[in-house]
Amino acid sequence: MIHAPLLKISPNAQGFTKAAEILRAGGLVAFGTETVYGLGADACNDTAVAGIYAAKGRPSFNPLIVHLDGPDAAEKYCVFNDNAHALAAAFWPGALTLVLPLKPDAGVSKLVTAGLDTLAVRVPDHAVAQDFLRTFAGPVAAPSANPSGRISPTTADHVIAGLEGRIDAVIDGGPCSVGVESTIVSCVDEPALLRAGGIPSEAITACLGRSILMPDDPDTPMSPGQLASHYAPQGRVRLNADAADDGEVLLGFGPVDTDLNLSPAGDLTEAAARLFGCLHQLDAMGATRIAVSPIPDHGLGRAINDRLKRAAAPRD
Ligand code: TXA
Ligand code: MG
Repeated sequence: MIHAPLLKISPNAQGFTKAAEILRAGGLVAFGTETVYGLGADACNDTAVAGIYAAKGRPSFNPLIVHLDGPDAAEKYCVFNDNAHALAAAFWPGALTLVLPLKPDAGVSKLVTAGLDTLAVRVPDHAVAQDFLRTFAGPVAAPSANPSGRISPTTADHVIAGLEGRIDAVIDGGPCSVGVESTIVSCVDEPALLRAGGIPSEAITACLGRSILMPDDPDTPMSPGQLASHYAPQGRVRLNADAADDGEVLLGFGPVDTDLNLSPAGDLTEAAARLFGCLHQLDAMGATRIAVSPIPDHGLGRAINDRLKRAAAPRD
């Protein structure tokens, strides 16, 4: 029952009601959040969740993040310990996803958890996402709203360009303010960073008052579905470039000579917000070879470098 053409829904009461009806009927609705656009389905409806994988062309059933309208709703689906409570209190609503033990009778589709006994949950900090979630009044499973392996969407037009004909609707939430995906922290055992993202890891450790396992630590549980090649523009990507070689377009950071710059002032928050938009722009320009300036590897720079490393990884 895919709507064609894709409905662009305005963020008002009538729009949220329409979007919630589509979800209740098993449809797919993309929506703006502060990180990236999500592709939402009713997390308790197996067929609808399977539709997410089909629309994205996701190669296998990797677990999905469930989006909720508040911490109380999250406690209905998973078990919180002291670390989880502290992180939720400090960073929700916001760009933090917690992986926690799933309550057995929660009713969430096994396609959401990929059969794991843990669940990833997030409360987004964006008025459009919150109004949509409140109107639907249930858990919404949502990966980023892009075809698998491609650049994540930070505007409704990115979603339409990638998924037209494969999903029902998109709620326009304007450009995403954070611009990279949420930070994922597992609190199942020892707290562990599973993915760098919109909340710097330094803020997580400061909140917990202790260090946490990092992704390159052998004791850190692997987050399923972190493919090496991901977030990829059409062109080949070369990292840590001081200047462009012949035939390359330079994606700059800081005071470098180029027309396309993540942040001429060298501001990591601005660079994160602009990252995926610049990669989409490079696709639109038809850039076949892309050089990227070095980005400092702290704060939001860690999430930016993680995405760029995957954009530059060898592809099948
Ligand atoms: O900012 C975001 O997180 C965006 C917006 C839409 O909320 N969503 C997003 O979803 O980035 P997605 O599907 O692109 O990434 C979800 C990540 C995957 O790498 C998956 O492996 C991990 O979350 N994940 C989900 N459930 C998990 C679980 N139970 N245990 C470990 N990792 C999990
Ligand atoms: Mg994604």
